[in-house]
Amino acid sequence: TAKPAGSAAPLYAELPADQQKAGKIVVGSDIAYAPMEYFDTDGETVLGFDKELGDKLGAQLGVEFEFQSASFDGLITSLKSGRFDLVMSGMSDTKERQAEVDFVDYYVAGAMMLVKKGNPEGLATLADLCGKTIAVQRGTTQEGYAQEQSAQCEKDGGQKIDILSFDRETEAMLQIKQGRAVAGLQDYPVATYNVRESGGEYEVVGEQIQAGPLGIAVDKADTALRDVVQKALAAIIANGEYGELIDKWEIP
Ligand code: ARG
Repeated sequence: TAKPAGSAAPLYAELPADQQKAGKIVVGSDIAYAPMEYFDTDGETVLGFDKELGDKLGAQLGVEFEFQSASFDGLITSLKSGRFDLVMSGMSDTKERQAEVDFVDYYVAGAMMLVKKGNPEGLATLADLCGKTIAVQRGTTQEGYAQEQSAQCEKDGGQKIDILSFDRETEAMLQIKQGRAVAGLQDYPVATYNVRESGGEYEVVGEQIQAGPLGIAVDKADTALRDVVQKALAAIIANGEYGELIDKWEIP
């Protein structure tokens, strides 16, 4: 009998039987978060750093990484239910999420404040947002920082932050452009991409907030899958491919 397509790949033998049999790894992702993951203009082809990282990991493992689109807020629940093998979605590896899933960390980033070009409100820190309206993506660490800061604003005798939450980061960002929110909070690589690509619509202000790892999420039961993905990542860091992707996608 013929050997399966990827079986000559360096780490194929260590891949769990489930993924060997499927011949692919199903990746859940909110594919509206350039440059991490986004759809090409055809609305179908997936582009971005996470996508190409998946391609490189797949080459080590001998299976294809198939990205499936889902809303960010539901990714961990779907991962735990077995709908996906992995989540790759610029997802921050946090204490809270570690209680639910395991992570293979692949980058470190904090959040940045994104405002209209010229920074009309003169914003610099989270505390400057007290009493203002901001827009964030639902279920993200950024939404969490905004909620914490809002509570702090009230403790300090100020007004809370009016937080508008959206299922897509792209919708949140639109609120800034349309003047319905004075700021947004995005992962650093995403914020700098948006400043670069918006043709002068936005700028980032202040310092990075709460830098921490981004990780590939894995179900806690799938320890063999987690470990072999970790090995595949180490291999593409060692052979230079990871660094090429960082350069290609201008990830800061
Ligand atoms: N890093 C942030 C978090 O994990 C935001 C990630 C949003 N990712 C996305 N594909 N929309 O909460």
